[in-house]
Amino acid sequence: MPTTPKTVSYRELGFVNTKEMFKKAMAEGYAVPAYNFNNMEQLQAIIAACVKSRSPVILQVSKGARDYANPTLLRWMARGAMEMMKEMTDGTAPIPVALHLDHGDSYELCKACIDNGFSSVMYDGSHLPYEENVKITKQVVDYARQFDVTVEGELGVLAGIEEHVSSEKSHYTNPEDVEDFVKRTGVDSLAISIGTSHGAYKFKVKPGESVPPLRFDILEETEKRIPGFPIVLHGASSVLQDYINYINKYGGKMEGAVGVPAEQLRKAAKSAVCKINIDSDGRLVMTAMIRKMFAEKPSEFDPRKYLGPAREELVKMYMDKNQNVLGSANRV
Ligand code: G3H
Ligand code: 13P
Ligand code: ZN
Repeated sequence: MPTTPKTVSYRELGFVNTKEMFKKAMAEGYAVPAYNFNNMEQLQAIIAACVKSRSPVILQVSKGARDYANPTLLRWMARGAMEMMKEMTDGTAPIPVALHLDHGDSYELCKACIDNGFSSVMYDGSHLPYEENVKITKQVVDYARQFDVTVEGELGVLAGIEEHVSSEKSHYTNPEDVEDFVKRTGVDSLAISIGTSHGAYKFKVKPGESVPPLRFDILEETEKRIPGFPIVLHGASSVLQDYINYINKYGGKMEGAVGVPAEQLRKAAKSAVCKINIDSDGRLVMTAMIRKMFAEKPSEFDPRKYLGPAREELVKMYMDKNQNVLGSANRV
């Protein structure tokens, strides 16, 4: 019976870091999708959608996901996904896949993920005083460098509340800080705050009003100061209204949920934004399809009968993002 080794390199698991992914995305004007997963169905859907649409992908795991699924199981699940993919072809992975820690909140967590086969980590010190953010981010970079693991840092705070990331108000990134931060920390990519936020309630808009545009001026100013440097956009779900409507129709209550319009994401993807993070849209699809199934077939009690259709719908949604929003389809 094989035992789980204490440390493992991401290369042994078949993952790649984000360097080449971002280089190509920058040169060709698209963004690599970073989709969060917490369970088998989400992981299967992400892989299926990205193989079908021939898109590179970043499999994203938050601290909450790690706690939910168990870090060891998660690592074997991700490895299993790579093996499954290789079986579809001649033994090589048909698309490049990175395994990334989303919103790492400590040096220790980042180190644990690097030791456990992650090819990329985010250290999120955006809520800390600037110098503290620089110090810990650099510590993470120094450790990651030894294993050629890529590191994402963050400047500016996004509003929104998740299990481990929470801020009531957003603070836009100050473009004057980015050059110094990138130089002193040595990060490989930088998440910035230009008006997106986490979760399903990104903007407060009255009926008939459209959502305010993202601060593309801050993005442009950032690009001027660090030309050719990969930028990351968090909180980029569009909060797809078809699924909100299903949720509300079939017993849910999500009034006023709105996200970032697809056109704005398309525009961002053509710029130095090389990675776009999407979690909430996946959550909405699963919830909508499960609620619909429960309402239409109340006697059904086999989880495969409601998780299966939810997984199929997820594949369609991720394929649409790759093809029509991020522009990452047919890039491999
Ligand atoms: O940005 C955060 C992600 O959506 C992950 O959320 O911490 O609830 O897993 P979570
Ligand atoms: P959403 O909540 O908009 O999907 O953002 C996800 C995210 O930024 C993960 O890091
Ligand atoms: Zn995020």
